[in-house]
Amino acid sequence: MQKLTITRPDDWHLHLRDGAALKAVLPYTVRQFARAIIMPNLKPPIRSVADAAAYRDRILAAIPEGQQFEPLMTLYLTDNTSPDDILRAKESQFIKAVKYYPAGATTNSDSGVTDIQKGDRVFEAMQQVDMPLLLHGEVTDNDVDTFDREKVFIERHLIPLKQRFPNLRVVLEHITTSDAVQYVLSANTIAATITPQHLLFNRNALFKGGLCPHFYCLPILKREEHRQALLQAAISGNPKFFLGTDSAPHTRTSKESSCGCAGCFSALHALELYAEAFESVKALDKLEAFASFYGPDFYQLPRNTERITLSKTTWRIPDEVPFMESGLVPLGAGQEMTWQMV
Ligand code: DOR
Ligand code: ZN
Repeated sequence: MQKLTITRPDDWHLHLRDGAALKAVLPYTVRQFARAIIMPNLKPPIRSVADAAAYRDRILAAIPEGQQFEPLMTLYLTDNTSPDDILRAKESQFIKAVKYYPAGATTNSDSGVTDIQKGDRVFEAMQQVDMPLLLHGEVTDNDVDTFDREKVFIERHLIPLKQRFPNLRVVLEHITTSDAVQYVLSANTIAATITPQHLLFNRNALFKGGLCPHFYCLPILKREEHRQALLQAAISGNPKFFLGTDSAPHTRTSKESSCGCAGCFSALHALELYAEAFESVKALDKLEAFASFYGPDFYQLPRNTERITLSKTTWRIPDEVPFMESGLVPLGAGQEMTWQMV
């Protein structure tokens, strides 16, 4: 196959940041995707409808001239979020989901939830008005190994949460384990996003030839058997699994540091990365539904009608793209790719 034409996709999990960083990265996403679910982990986080409206305006203002893009906003759940905040978010129409970060789990998550049970009144309201809950599904307990944090979150928190709120629509974000795949398959009203890094790389990438901080993201890359399980889920044609890049830009210096930030930047070449992953298991025919159909179906939004084309061309992922003071290293920098969006 030399060309692959599919419905324009959407990115159901994206970090755009703010200010100059937003202006630098947004054009990459706009080039590939029609819409994206925008993560609220700014400093300070997006906690109210007013915060989300102002952030949405800044995103709209940063869209390159003449291009189309719809930011789908989210609220950041804190210990102080009220059921009333949820009702107002629902009424806003432009807030499509609420994001749960366990306090301290990842970048800018200090204001996150300290105890998931404290959120029950809010989850009740979300279930009532049918507002999806997006989960960073990791525990933060120091006695739980970093590589087990997703599995333990599912056992300790997600299974009980779904028992308390069976109709709450949940997205388990950026899944990394076969445990997550199995749980999502077994439960109702739950879906999952899958990133390009978790489809293409296992945890060896973090240590290949030395410590490689540009493969460090959270949840962290896992064993090969988990990568294989994610690939099978992504190509299964099951609408519970759809595209969410988790593209999360950090400057080169903040990643190449004694305490490097978590996040992989993939907005530059997201679709191409997914195409490589799907082709590696001879499932390119399953890419369109994963990238362009199942996400809008879950969020009850219309599918896009425009089409985009990838062509078979060899090119190399650049070592760096311009960004802030020290540049941005794309996921898989320097590696050869065989698909390119035209
Ligand atoms: O690797 C990550 N980076 N995981 C997250 O959950 C947050 C993200 C970020 O905002 O940089
Ligand atoms: Zn994220």
